[in-house]
Amino acid sequence: MVRHLAGLFALAASTAAGLELKVSQSGGNASSPYLYGIMFEDISHSGDGTLYGQLLQNNGFQGVNVSIDPWKAVGQAQVRQDNATTIGKANHPTIAISAQGGANGSFGVSNPGYKGIRVLEGDYNTQFWLQGAYSGPVTVSLVNANDQSVLGSAKVDVKSESGSFTQYNTSIPVSKSASDGNNLWTLTFDAATASDGTLNLGFPLLYGETFKQRPNGLNAEVAETVNALNGSFLRFPGGNNIEGSSIDNRWKWNETLGPVQDRPGRQGNWGYPNTDGLGLIEYMEWCIDMDLAPVLDVWAGLTIGGGMVEPGAALEPYVQETMDELEFLLGDSSTPGGQYRASLGYQSPFDIPFVEVGNEDFLNNGGDSYPARFKQYYDAIHAKYPQLQIIATTAKQNGPAGVIDDLPEGVLQDVHQYLPPDQFVGNFSAFDHQPRSQPVIVGEYGSTTNNDGSTTDYPTMIGAVSEAVYAIGFERNSDVVRAAAFAPMLEHFGLRDWSPNLFGYDTTNGVTRSISYFVQQMFASNRGDKIHAVEADAGFGPVYWVASSAGGGQTFFVKMANYGASEQSVKVQLEGKTAAQLTVISAEEMESNLPGQEKVKPVVSEVQGEVGKFEVTLPAWSVAVLAAAK
Ligand SMILES: *[C@@H]1O[C@H](CO)[C@@H](O)[C@H](O)[C@H]1NC(C)=O
Ligand SMILES: *[C@@H]1O[C@H](CO)[C@@H](O)[C@H](O)[C@H]1NC(C)=O
Ligand SMILES: *[C@@H]1O[C@H](CO)[C@@H](O)[C@H](O)[C@H]1NC(C)=O
Ligand SMILES: *[C@@H]1O[C@H](CO)[C@@H](O)[C@H](O)[C@H]1NC(C)=O
Ligand SMILES: *[C@@H]1O[C@H](CO)[C@@H](O)[C@H](O)[C@H]1NC(C)=O
Ligand SMILES: *[C@@H]1O[C@H](CO)[C@@H](O)[C@H](O)[C@H]1NC(C)=O
Ligand SMILES: *[C@@H]1O[C@H](CO)[C@@H](O)[C@H](O)[C@H]1NC(C)=O
Ligand SMILES: *[C@@H]1O[C@H](CO)[C@@H](O)[C@H](O)[C@H]1NC(C)=O
Repeated sequence: MVRHLAGLFALAASTAAGLELKVSQSGGNASSPYLYGIMFEDISHSGDGTLYGQLLQNNGFQGVNVSIDPWKAVGQAQVRQDNATTIGKANHPTIAISAQGGANGSFGVSNPGYKGIRVLEGDYNTQFWLQGAYSGPVTVSLVNANDQSVLGSAKVDVKSESGSFTQYNTSIPVSKSASDGNNLWTLTFDAATASDGTLNLGFPLLYGETFKQRPNGLNAEVAETVNALNGSFLRFPGGNNIEGSSIDNRWKWNETLGPVQDRPGRQGNWGYPNTDGLGLIEYMEWCIDMDLAPVLDVWAGLTIGGGMVEPGAALEPYVQETMDELEFLLGDSSTPGGQYRASLGYQSPFDIPFVEVGNEDFLNNGGDSYPARFKQYYDAIHAKYPQLQIIATTAKQNGPAGVIDDLPEGVLQDVHQYLPPDQFVGNFSAFDHQPRSQPVIVGEYGSTTNNDGSTTDYPTMIGAVSEAVYAIGFERNSDVVRAAAFAPMLEHFGLRDWSPNLFGYDTTNGVTRSISYFVQQMFASNRGDKIHAVEADAGFGPVYWVASSAGGGQTFFVKMANYGASEQSVKVQLEGKTAAQLTVISAEEMESNLPGQEKVKPVVSEVQGEVGKFEVTLPAWSVAVLAAAK
């Protein structure tokens, strides 16, 4: 991913006088170990269709107003949604398939996934249920929709009966990756063996390689890209997607557990159904597999446009719902919640440091009642789990609505910032004067608008530099800014609800990482545990910097951003260090990485330091990290 261009930057540096930074070796404030992390909700099909490993769309008719779309007949078949023949505890409708009179060869159904199915060399696991009198072969295949070529296929001997569903499970071997993403999953019967009548296909599932080989796990390729961000926490499951368009439509923890066919799914807040195949246990496994500290967001009475539960007695059952969720996650096995968890394979309680009450309750007229609703949740949660760090979703930086003046000690506030580049830079010092008794997280931020007011489609170089300037601002204050995450993390290109996103996916190219992705990765992968004072011969702007150290001064990091159209020379003094690695990302101001084109990437070089002095050139519009271990 990174090229080694030894000496390039050092060479350019020797000509100009430039800025001088002298990093103090001693003292410094502690930096939060959670500073760089991940925010996730299912938006732009980031869950169903992208990160969640199940690849078939509309597999259980989840959501509202659902039709047979995008299922299609293969051969001489008739297919329809059968609401009367259901599967699972959630009573999912199934697909009724009948051979048309005179059908010959094979007949069945196809599914195009979410804008195609990415087919790579390897094994695809597929599972399905069948009901109806049929004894004979069923063929499941992955087929290219353009040229009908079969990419992989498996035959299953089926003895299906009418009146009950039988489950089948097989693997489709693929020996060569498809040339594009326009691929279908097909399931076909042999017309010669089929007697008259209808066959019902229930809850079909298709998985490619999953992260850490988890059954019902994350798409390996997408998850690897998440893992490489090197974050330290995961805030989930929302975001707006937790809130519901009505009270009953909120994200309900206990409906995301158990066998996938038993989960009802729900109509998500971003205009499409959620299968909830990526459920609470899968979120916890994600945290475990990537060593991320969970920041669990809980519903706190506010919906998006569908009303609110007033604080007091009416809210009590919902507070209890959260307490049940926490007992499920944190209770020992003597509690009913803990027993339920153990029955799903997790004997020991999960490790959860943070719980956030609500999401953006300063919006949707939730502000007035938020202080009282927050107090009701806080009192219940804190009394039972005093070790949890509780987060309020309002903060003065988000506007005045719902800001709580007398927060209990230890409560964090969640700042969300979606700004044009100039305003991120304008907020560089936003946390310099944050009272140390009022810690915050920056739960969501990203440059969403260009400086001319137009919407940012894909993260731009100038946007990424401005995010870096803002991040340098909060890293300088990371004793009080405890955690921060860019949002949203992920989109399925072409199924977008929001822009820009940290990275995206399509079924032909796989993942494409944005410039902002690389900046996040650079910052998260070069963390100090102490922030050091820096003596400079000029003020901030256009160059911004922060210095930190890890391992008791073993390694020093200097993060720098050049928010300007001219190259800048910087002399960095790091006493005692003689060699450093410099990582730089830069491009034209409005450059972006478009789907399938990772044009802009960080470049790594080695820099020699004469008596602790490192000469660095920051190109126009650039972000750089100097890491000195020797
Ligand atoms: C199945 O039920 C859903 C929701 O109740 C309805 O929207 C749909 O029209 C029904 N479809 C059929 C084929 O009966
Ligand atoms: C479902 O259909 C009803 C009736 O047409 C409509 O009012 C509602 O907006 C639809 N809901 C969704 C999520 O499409
Ligand atoms: C089988 O069906 C195809 C259409 O799907 C038709 O073209 C063909 O003539 C049929 N063959 C027989 C033997 O009926
Ligand atoms: C299906 O088979 C795979 C591979 O053998 C296995 O990991 C998985 O648990 C099976 N699933 C079911 C539901 O039987
Ligand atoms: C989930 O919990 C609620 C109570 O909060 C209960 O009414 C509902 O039946 C539960 N659902 C499932 C699937 O267990
Ligand atoms: C700082 O951010 C706020 C939004 O929280 C924005 O309104 C303001 O313009 C920014 N300040 C500067 C100086 O850009
Ligand atoms: C991830 O970040 C940690 C802390 O900064 C660092 O030690 C580690 O090398 C990083 N991993 C990668 C693969 O960059
Ligand atoms: C440490 O925090 C204090 C505010 O409590 C601040 O004045 C000081 O500049 C910080 N030191 C460093 C090295 O950032």
